[in-house]
This record gives sequence, C-alpha cells and structure tokens, in this order.
Amino acid sequence: MSLMRPIFVLTALLFLRASASAQPAAMMRAVVVHEYGAPEVLKYEDAPRPEPKENELLVRVIACGVNPADPLVISGRLAKEFGTHLPLIPGYDVAGIVEKSGTKVTQFKKGDAVYGYALFGGGWAEYAVLAENEAAIKPESASFVEAAAVPLAALTAWQSLIDVAKLSAGQTVLIHGGSGGVGSFAVQIAKARGARVIATASTANQDLLKQLGADVTIDYTKTKFEDVVKDVDVVLDTVGRDTIARSYAVVKKGGIITTIASRPDPAQLEKYEIRGTSIWSKPDGNELAEITKLIEAGKIKPIVGQVMPLTDAVKASRQAETHHTRGKLVLKIAEEPKS
Ligand SMILES: NC(=O)c1ccc[n+]([C@@H]2O[C@H](COP(=O)([O-])OP(=O)(O)OC[C@H]3O[C@@H](n4cnc5c(N)ncnc54)[C@H](OP(=O)(O)O)[C@@H]3O)[C@@H](O)[C@H]2O)c1
Repeated sequence: MSLMRPIFVLTALLFLRASASAQPAAMMRAVVVHEYGAPEVLKYEDAPRPEPKENELLVRVIACGVNPADPLVISGRLAKEFGTHLPLIPGYDVAGIVEKSGTKVTQFKKGDAVYGYALFGGGWAEYAVLAENEAAIKPESASFVEAAAVPLAALTAWQSLIDVAKLSAGQTVLIHGGSGGVGSFAVQIAKARGARVIATASTANQDLLKQLGADVTIDYTKTKFEDVVKDVDVVLDTVGRDTIARSYAVVKKGGIITTIASRPDPAQLEKYEIRGTSIWSKPDGNELAEITKLIEAGKIKPIVGQVMPLTDAVKASRQAETHHTRGKLVLKIAEEPKS
C-alpha cells in the first residue's frame, strides 16, 4: 500500500504534465494528395499548419498560381526530380501576408505582403512556407491574384532569356507559346530588354500576343513558323514536341535555343552551328525582385486568364493539363486584404 501511493502520484503528475504540453496542432484548409494519380485524387480537407524553420516565412496565402507542373506532381511523374513524398500539398506560386518569420529571417517581417516560388510547393492551402531566399516583396501595383501568377512562370522566362540566352537589345527572339504562362512573361521581358519579338499562339490568342507587345505574331494553326522566320538570335521553346525539331533551321549561326519543354538534339545543334540547352527553373528572390521592378514600372503586366476558388483545384489541374491556358490560372484562397 505504501509503495502504491507514490507510484499513483507520479503517474498522475506525468499525465497532467503531458496534457499541459500537448498543444493541439494548428490546422488549416488545404488541398492534399494522399495517393498519386489523376487530379481527382485531390482532397480538400483539414491539414496541419506548417511551422516555419529559422530561415523561412509562414505566409497566410491569399492566392496561389497553377502550373502545368502541378498535375505532373499530383500524378507522381515528377516525384523523383522534385523529391516529393506523400502526403503533399501542390502549389508553387505563393502570394500572401507574412504571419510569422523564422529566427534567422532578416528581410521580411510579420505583416509584409510577399510572393515567391516555393520549391517544395504547399501553396494550395491557407498557410504555406517560403524560404527567405525564395521570397520578394509583392509589387504594390499588382493584386495578390496577379502576384500569384508571377513567380514560377516569370522566373522561368527570366532564367531562359536573361541568364541562359543572354538576350540583349536589338536581338530577335522567337517565343513559341507566347500566350501561355511562361510565354506571356517571356514576350514582355524580351520587349523590356529591347529585343524584337516574334511570338506564336493559336488564332484565339493573336490579340493577346499583340497586347503583350510582340512585333510579329504567328498563328500556328494557319502558318508554319519556319516558312516565315529566319536568322533569329534566340528561340525560347515552351511547347516541345515537334516545335524544337523545326526550330534549329531558323536560328542564325552562333544563336541559341533554350527549351523548357524538351531537349535539344546535339547533332542538329552541331549541323546548324548553334547552341541549345534545356532548363529547369529555380526559385530566386533576387531575380523576383528584379521582375517586381518591371511590374512596378508598368513593363510587365501579369495576365490572369482565369481565377478559381481553392475548392476547384481538380478543375484547375485539369485545365493546366491542356497546355492551352491563356496567361495564368490562379486559385484565390482568401479575400484580398483592404489596403
Ligand atoms: N523546365 C521548366 O523549368 C519549366 C517551367 C515552367 C513550365 N515548364 C513547361 O513548359 C511548358 C509551358 O508552360 P506554361 O506554364 O507556359 O504552359 P501554359 O500556360 O499551358 O501555356 C502553353 C501555351 O502554349 C501555346 N501552345 C500550345 N500549343 C502550341 C503550339 N503548337 N505552338 C505554339 N504555341 C502553342 C498555348 O496557346 P494556344 O492556346 O493559343 O494554343 C498556351 O498559351 C509546359 O510543358 C510546362 O510543364 C517547364
């Protein structure tokens, strides 16, 4: 009896301590993949709110962009390249307000309006984390929905044209798929750089190519670009399939093809004495800040073709699979805060 009593007291104390420290995890609404497959595997449900690490920001997400990579991630086809594991929350393009910043974050504070390309996704949720070096202050002249259209697509265009092709003023660039997510930024970035832009899209998007500032527009349903284009300095291929195969001959000697949707054929590059490379874009807060300046200067306008609620994530993923999105598709997750 005398031994039982201290054991009982100790057990009771341990129980009380455990229940005091076991805080229930903060939850949020999110779109979650529990098994790889078609977009219909997506579940809109409660999920634990992420905690930012020391170099990360916790962002209350107002809007998140949709990219063709999302259905690929959901299907499991990019699992190896992206190092994803289940369960996962898709969504690379986060635009929102800093809720909390990690102890080593120096450039952003609670309440800042930010946007960024989250390398590991997670944006199709009420809260997401961005590493400090993935984020930039959101352009004041853009809404959160417009800002969410920018990071992945604009960085892909920037890294293809500026970092890799070193596009300069006076050069001519042919942009395949100029009306899509990447292409609509590429046309505007190339124009801001002082280049002459030739861009392709279908009949319905010829007006958009002109609005973006393309000098020459080609309707690929009516005209073969190789019949009317020659001697360009740079080709940006966002389409893949046979488009790259037909592009080698239109590049001038010493010119370059950058592709985000295919791989250049070394034999063709050698034959035409041109360079070629395929790229994987990456998050870069500094480059995003450069893009922000162009948005604030009115030289880049994000083109938001469609806005859907987070509950329409399946429909949005199906649209991303079509490869015929006009500008960007954005999921609106919360109301735009009043400024
Ligand atoms: N490697 C990377 O880092 C990276 C990054 C981003 C994207 N990507 C890939 O790049 C591709 C494009 O991405 P995105 O976000 O720009 O896609 P998107 O928003 O779906 O846009 C695709 C655009 O291509 C146009 N298009 C379709 N077929 C065409 C053709 N035969 N000739 C010319 N234009 C054509 C479409 O215009 P119409 O509707 O008028 O046909 C559409 O506007 C996707 O395959 C994506 O997965 C790769």
